[in-house]
Amino acid sequence: MTSSQKLLQQRRVLITGAARGLGEAFARSCVQAGAKVVLADVAAERGQALAAELGAAAHFVVMDVASKLSVQAGMQEAVQWLGGLDGLINNAAITNSGGRVLGEIEEDMFDRVMQVNIKGVWLVTNAAHPYLKAAASNGSAASVLNIASDTALWGAPRLIAYVASKGAVISMTRSMARELGADGISVNAIAPGLVVSESTEYVPQARHDQYLEGRAIKREQQPSDCTDAALFFLSAGAGFVTGQVLPVNGGYVMN
Ligand SMILES: NC(=O)c1ccc[n+]([C@@H]2O[C@H](COP(=O)([O-])OP(=O)(O)OC[C@H]3O[C@@H](n4cnc5c(N)ncnc54)[C@H](O)[C@@H]3O)[C@@H](O)[C@H]2O)c1
Repeated sequence: MTSSQKLLQQRRVLITGAARGLGEAFARSCVQAGAKVVLADVAAERGQALAAELGAAAHFVVMDVASKLSVQAGMQEAVQWLGGLDGLINNAAITNSGGRVLGEIEEDMFDRVMQVNIKGVWLVTNAAHPYLKAAASNGSAASVLNIASDTALWGAPRLIAYVASKGAVISMTRSMARELGADGISVNAIAPGLVVSESTEYVPQARHDQYLEGRAIKREQQPSDCTDAALFFLSAGAGFVTGQVLPVNGGYVMN
């Protein structure tokens, strides 16, 4: 890379759950870094508006990551628009039972978390695999980045279903790295801490205070604190880094 080139120049990236929050921040930074980006989400209106704002380098597709049919259709449209695929960010997830202790979680809530947060990562990665493999065989550094959570590293209470799902994402990252490594594809994860975002508006102040006190860097975490780490894992130069889980959390949990 010469100094005039951008980090993700000419890279083709799909981001799930990109209509808002961290996914939106990843989409913005990937476009700024020179990538062509497909935003995939169930929130069509918001996703389309964001893609329109980001301009010619962005495109929105409807995709429910928990549905095989929806993933296949969305992936096909995405790859057609991108002309291939070099990078995937598995970001879509739900926290529907946040704040509840074990006995307060409904069975269907628990099941839905597993469907979106775990099965979704499997379905989307599986659908992306042939295209990432083709990119790698053409000399591109193909990569998958899974968005985990540091709650799975420190064992956050009142978040059991979500924590379990993110523990699975971390485990899958390592197994996928070994399976897909044979095809030249790297698979890593980042584990953000508690981010100030729409999805965490329900989180009580006491949990925010706990994070503030426990961090080595004592300030609130913003979505933008996570984006450069994501760009690194998607960049061509990071192709030999795989199977790793990087906490991006101001040092709340140290790996
Ligand atoms: N916000 C935090 O504090 C925090 C901390 C650690 C990790 N994370 C992780 O970061 C990622 C993004 O979190 P966020 O806080 O931005 O969440 P968010 O709720 O703001 O955004 C999630 C996006 O995913 C979409 N989505 C939900 N279900 C979907 C499905 N079935 N198919 C496709 N899209 C779907 C939503 O429409 C939304 O646009 C998640 O993986 C989350 O677990 C967030």
